Amino acid sequence: MMKKILYVIIGLLLVIQFIRPEENRGESGGPHALQNVVDVPDTVLAVLKTSCYDCHSNTTVYPWYTNVQPVGWWLANHVSEGKRELNFDEFKTYPSKKAIHKLEETADVIKENEMPLNSYLLIHRTAKLTEAQKQMVIDWAQQAQMQVK
Ligand code: HEC
Repeated sequence: MMKKILYVIIGLLLVIQFIRPEENRGESGGPHALQNVVDVPDTVLAVLKTSCYDCHSNTTVYPWYTNVQPVGWWLANHVSEGKRELNFDEFKTYPSKKAIHKLEETADVIKENEMPLNSYLLIHRTAKLTEAQKQMVIDWAQQAQMQVK
């Protein structure tokens, strides 16, 4: 009995490997990108790219284990929800009011340690922001709000 259950589980795990989510492999930094709306110093952009762009841009860097399901499904879900909420590569398509609000929220989620998601930090150690990086991005996000036309 136990053996049968085990075989069924292994079988299911094998089958789900073939159901692959669509990947987020668009172009980053296109005409609608954040940099075309407000000034983004290289140091700030580097932090956003490392810590936020996997879920908030048109390009995700996929580590090998996202080829293993259901890990890939789980990440794909975060990417689609994250992009719906905020896509730095589509920033120019946002009306001014929304753009300002998203910059405000960017500062807030970093201040409150809500982003990057904890579950993501577990496997992406390098995405964790230092206190200095947090302050830098928060200061920038507050300044940038005034540049939105
Ligand atoms: C692993 C994916 C992932 C990463 C990495 C990530 N986010 Fe998010 N983010 C999400 C998801 C999913 C949501 C929507 C659901 C939620 O709010 O929890 C979201 C929502 C947001 C929101 C909307 C505000 C809110 O309170 O809902 C902002 C702003 C945001 N993220 C900023 C950032 C910033 C800035 C970073 C980098 C420091 C970042 N995120 C990194 C997945 C991610």
